[in-house]
Amino acid sequence: MNQTVLEANQIHKSFQLERSQIDVLTDINLSVKSGEFVAIMGKSGSGKSTLLSLLAGLDQPSAGHITLNGEDITNFSEEELALKRQSDIGFVFQSFHLIPTLSVRENIEFPLSIARHQDDEKVNELLSAVELEHRRDSFPHQLSGGEKQRTAIARALVANPKILFADEPTGNLDEKNANQVMQLLLNLQQAFNTALVIVTHDPELAKLADRTIHIVDGKLQ
Ligand SMILES: Nc1ncnc2c1ncn2[C@@H]1O[C@H](COP(=O)(O)OP(=O)(O)OP(=O)(O)O)[C@@H](O)[C@H]1O
Ligand SMILES: [Mg+2]
Repeated sequence: MNQTVLEANQIHKSFQLERSQIDVLTDINLSVKSGEFVAIMGKSGSGKSTLLSLLAGLDQPSAGHITLNGEDITNFSEEELALKRQSDIGFVFQSFHLIPTLSVRENIEFPLSIARHQDDEKVNELLSAVELEHRRDSFPHQLSGGEKQRTAIARALVANPKILFADEPTGNLDEKNANQVMQLLLNLQQAFNTALVIVTHDPELAKLADRTIHIVDGKLQ
């Protein structure tokens, strides 16, 4: 339980604009332990999504180091990062990012098929856990927002990641679906002992976290 899954040391991120540079994140230090639930809060534009992308290996910091499962991923190539994301990281986006031409079942299975690792039992377990067995053959355009996000959550967990990142996962859902999706995320986090890092604007949700960190102007408070 107390093993560190993720460590960020002295992270800095800036973006080059046409005539200037903006420093979005400065001096970020953060560590997440196995099975821990961390909420990230902060105003719009404060750098939450940027931080999540760096932690999840979707983008690279301008300076500093990120260690995932004891391995420094900072200087990984695109290919190495892609492999790492496949094996150790799950990511849930606000806007679902499902593949429109694949069914619910195929979307959930997708990370396994890329890794050429079939696991029907796991896919069935997750279809049941997110209560979508009856929609297994439906396509994303036939689903409600809550159903789409439940599919995305199952997909994010199918490869047994050590850590799951979610960027405002309930931001596009009404209150009822948001509560259901959140409850599901928490149940699965505990069932699989996955660390969970969530960006949220919802103080009620943050209360459920083991820890809440606040970003103000690109710095942790
Ligand atoms: N690729 C980019 N190029 C230039 N600026 C960027 C880029 N990505 C993000 N930014 C800037 O970095 C700042 C932080 O953006 P970020 O998306 O991390 O904010 P956020 O906290 O997630 O906001 P929100 O709550 O609105 O989602 C913003 O000022 C944004 O314009
Ligand atoms: Mg954001």
